[in-house]
Amino acid sequence: MNKEKIAAIAADLMKERRSHPHKEVGNKYYHGQRVAKIALTLRKIVLPEDDSRDDILTAAAWMHDCANGEQNYGDHAANGARICRELLADCCTPEELDGICHIVAHHDDRSHTVEYDTWLKCHQDADHLDHFGSYDVMMAFLECNANGRTIGDMLKWMLHDRPAQMEKVKSQLNFEISRKIYEEKIAFMTEFALRYRAETEGEIIGLDEILGKQ
Ligand SMILES: [Fe+2]
Ligand SMILES: [Fe+2]
Repeated sequence: MNKEKIAAIAADLMKERRSHPHKEVGNKYYHGQRVAKIALTLRKIVLPEDDSRDDILTAAAWMHDCANGEQNYGDHAANGARICRELLADCCTPEELDGICHIVAHHDDRSHTVEYDTWLKCHQDADHLDHFGSYDVMMAFLECNANGRTIGDMLKWMLHDRPAQMEKVKSQLNFEISRKIYEEKIAFMTEFALRYRAETEGEIIGLDEILGKQ
């Protein structure tokens, strides 16, 4: 597999583009880079002895959202798989191309329309997990600003609405380790939001320690 060429294709398609006007430039390019790393981390945990498809997992992650955010993009997973089949044809073997396109085509599938193999499961969980934690906090700020919301609205979202989705999100994750990582990310956002709420009310965090008191 010519990974350098695939990396260049992914950069060419997504690095200067944003999928939505209020999101950062290159958002789907950098998301793909992160998802590749997370997917490999999960693969090493759930299937430690088998690195045979790591290149497929990596290339699929880099490219999986290449059609996300295009105008009239429709089903961005199916369209992304079509783009991969066309653009990556001379970067890998037919079997590798099938593996990449399979992951891209089904990365958003949460209803088991096909049987999920371990690699698709690793990708899906990595893709989902990348939306939580510090990135979720950043999205809250960007969307709050874009939609004219208040700090109070954002705090409600971080402390109530987002954690309220917990059971649904957990049911969409394939591995127990992914659910534990997700829980840690929600705990981080809650901790951040509590400090943010205190500071927006003029409190100074840790003042006793700063003053040397217990
Ligand atoms: Fe996607
Ligand atoms: Fe994604």
